[in-house]
Amino acid sequence: YQTSAAQTPPMGWNPWNAFHTDVDEAKIRAVARTIVDSGLARKGYRFINIDDGWALRRLADGRLRIRDSMFPSAKIPASDTGSFKPFTDYIHSLGLKAGLYTDIGRNTCAQVWDANSPNLPVGTVAERQVGSFGHAAQDMRTMFADWRFDYVKIDACGVADYTRDVAPVKAGDYQAFAPLIVRGNIPESDPASVEKLYATLGDAVRRWGGEAAVLSICAWGEALSPLWGHVRGNLWRTSPDIEFTWKSMLGNIDSMVDGALYAGPGHWNDPDMLAIGHGDFDATHLVEARSHFTMWAIMASPLLLGYDVRKPAPALLDIVGNPEVIAIDQDAAGNQGVPYRDGDAMVVVRTLTSPGARAVAMFNRGTEPVTAQVRWEQLGFAPGSRATVRDVWARRNRATAAGTITAELPAHGAVLLRVEGTPADPDTVPLDEMPARV
Ligand code: DGJ
Repeated sequence: YQTSAAQTPPMGWNPWNAFHTDVDEAKIRAVARTIVDSGLARKGYRFINIDDGWALRRLADGRLRIRDSMFPSAKIPASDTGSFKPFTDYIHSLGLKAGLYTDIGRNTCAQVWDANSPNLPVGTVAERQVGSFGHAAQDMRTMFADWRFDYVKIDACGVADYTRDVAPVKAGDYQAFAPLIVRGNIPESDPASVEKLYATLGDAVRRWGGEAAVLSICAWGEALSPLWGHVRGNLWRTSPDIEFTWKSMLGNIDSMVDGALYAGPGHWNDPDMLAIGHGDFDATHLVEARSHFTMWAIMASPLLLGYDVRKPAPALLDIVGNPEVIAIDQDAAGNQGVPYRDGDAMVVVRTLTSPGARAVAMFNRGTEPVTAQVRWEQLGFAPGSRATVRDVWARRNRATAAGTITAELPAHGAVLLRVEGTPADPDTVPLDEMPARV
């Protein structure tokens, strides 16, 4: 998927983790203002996205009607669909960008999974088909050309056997949701078909959104999008939804490790939105919140905040707003960190743009203190050479080091370093400094 979008991992805010389908416009506008006023926008948090819950129904001519009870500015006299243009105009007037949500299938995830949501699409079976299946061009034209969004997240819940005409609701698993499901119930029934649906949507995104439109693929598990996501979009999920637990966060880190080669400008593994501000990562768990952010940054992950930033939590703002950590995440070379693991100690090395520069995360997965160490061989540094070491959380330089760097890590703790040294590999030495070969 070659466009000019997402040259660095997208940064911004998404309502899902804080509000689920309760995505009303007043909250989102207020969050957008807070993102600007708190200085987060200046630091790179640009995308303000809308997630599942905004679509009310699909009209007979295929157009989507917005749930304007939640988006009052979308209510336009004489329009039976409404328009998000007033909303995106507002977001753009703040210097930000706006994102919207859809699904490759006929239904969205909330229709399949969140039977109790008060904000599900309404109407006949056909009217509830608010997913973009069969409407790729029409929906992308509406979202990008008419409503002027800059970003679309495309989920993969409403797929199943879309070649069949009648929805067989399989006995068992999803029986309870049967009345809500229009057709099919297995998100990852067939990887090739899922990929094809993303290809069709991707063509429409490029056509109507242009080069700068961001396409976020939300498919994982048997859909195998970690293997083909880079061909079909700018970012692709590698894991189930993050839960607000340490264990879930570890699982989401591990889910992206195998995909390091696919990451680079325009293409990012997506271990899901940040859980910072919730559960094990709330303002009473700053060690964990810092470690979570460290790992997302070293792995070149998208940084999408998911907490209600209107609630003041200066300590959390200091974490997600640390400019040196953000700079590592956003490093132009786009290399994803590569981990080495020794029991609970995990050391992740990321090659940065400037020659000899590395980011190094040392991370304690467990609840007992550990000592972590990184050796020059792991950093690709010349034996015997010295390196400068900056601790980016402490925001100070350590003594220079040679051979190894060691850190004592408390339970769940992490250290993030920016190290500048002398590469051992002659390929990385500028040509005019290379010794002549005989
Ligand atoms: C599943 C996704 O993984 C979540 O991020 C969110 O978009 C929900 N679907 C919405 O229903």
